[in-house]
Amino acid sequence: MVIEADRRVPNQRLKREREIRGWSQRDLATLVDSTLYTVSRWERGLSVPHLSTLGKLCKLFEKSPRELGFTREDRAGGGQPASSVPSQPRLYDPAIPKSQVGGKGLVGRTELFTDFKRRLCSGKNVAFSALNGLPGVGKTTVAVELARDREVLDYFRDGVLWACLGIQPDIVGLLGRWGTLLGLASHEMAALTSVEAWAKTINAVIGTKRMLLVIDDAWSIEDALAFQVGGVHCAHIVTTRFPEIALQFAYDGSNVVHELNEEDGIALLQRLAPQVVAREPGKMRSLVQSVGGLPLAITLAGKYL
Ligand SMILES: Nc1ncnc2c1ncn2[C@@H]1O[C@H](COP(=O)(O)OP(=O)(O)OP(=O)(O)O)[C@@H](O)[C@H]1O
Ligand SMILES: [Mg+2]
Repeated sequence: MVIEADRRVPNQRLKREREIRGWSQRDLATLVDSTLYTVSRWERGLSVPHLSTLGKLCKLFEKSPRELGFTREDRAGGGQPASSVPSQPRLYDPAIPKSQVGGKGLVGRTELFTDFKRRLCSGKNVAFSALNGLPGVGKTTVAVELARDREVLDYFRDGVLWACLGIQPDIVGLLGRWGTLLGLASHEMAALTSVEAWAKTINAVIGTKRMLLVIDDAWSIEDALAFQVGGVHCAHIVTTRFPEIALQFAYDGSNVVHELNEEDGIALLQRLAPQVVAREPGKMRSLVQSVGGLPLAITLAGKYL
């Protein structure tokens, strides 16, 4: 791996990647467990990160060291001109998972996805929505694709935040992450001692911004409600296995994610093991039926075929 410190040339690439996400140098420092001083030195070309920190930076930005300007030749030219940087929302949470479906798109969710997106981007009555269904049915997968969809990102131009809750979420820790991403100063955050205080502060800092907030995998309504923060132009999506949480959170904006029908189940299997599906269509149909059209099970089976 080539990592060179050129002590004269500022690292424009790192600076630009940070700025298009709307992060301050302090935000970046917090996200990779470093200091403001160190980040400033990287950007001024005065030092390069240690390997472990470089790994964190690459993971955070989903970029290679080269793309982050940590080679002499990359920094010297300053990288791409600013005009060729793709449009991105100002704040794009690094916790948003990678696409589970790559560039291939979701299987069997055209109607659900299109309707959901249309409602989200219509500006009407979309404040609280939910995706509900069985474990492994693909709720998070749909939410990730929404959070990565170009039209959704264009509409929620001020950014997307993501919180993955699970059974025992660290609510204050997760709100603290959002606070950091939103640019709250450490001393402001240190004064926040209750979930209510966090909500009030985050509401104030989001204000009239147009943001999408995704609350993934809620196991209790109280947990989910702690993340109903933001302002009038925010939309919230909760994903949950529990219908009662979906209904309470979203009123009429609750969507059931169903198991895949046989045709879509085969289509998913075909992506993973096309030759086996072509050779043994009957057996593959039985396989899809035997797992009840559950995408997680089909995906796991497909990887072993
Ligand atoms: N529509 C889809 N098209 C292609 N693959 C899918 C689809 N839905 C789900 N998958 C696959 O199934 C896996 C499991 O889906 P996912 O994690 O979204 O389920 P979930 O409903 O969120 O489950 P949990 O309740 O455990 O959170 C994904 O990692 C993905 O590989
Ligand atoms: Mg999930």
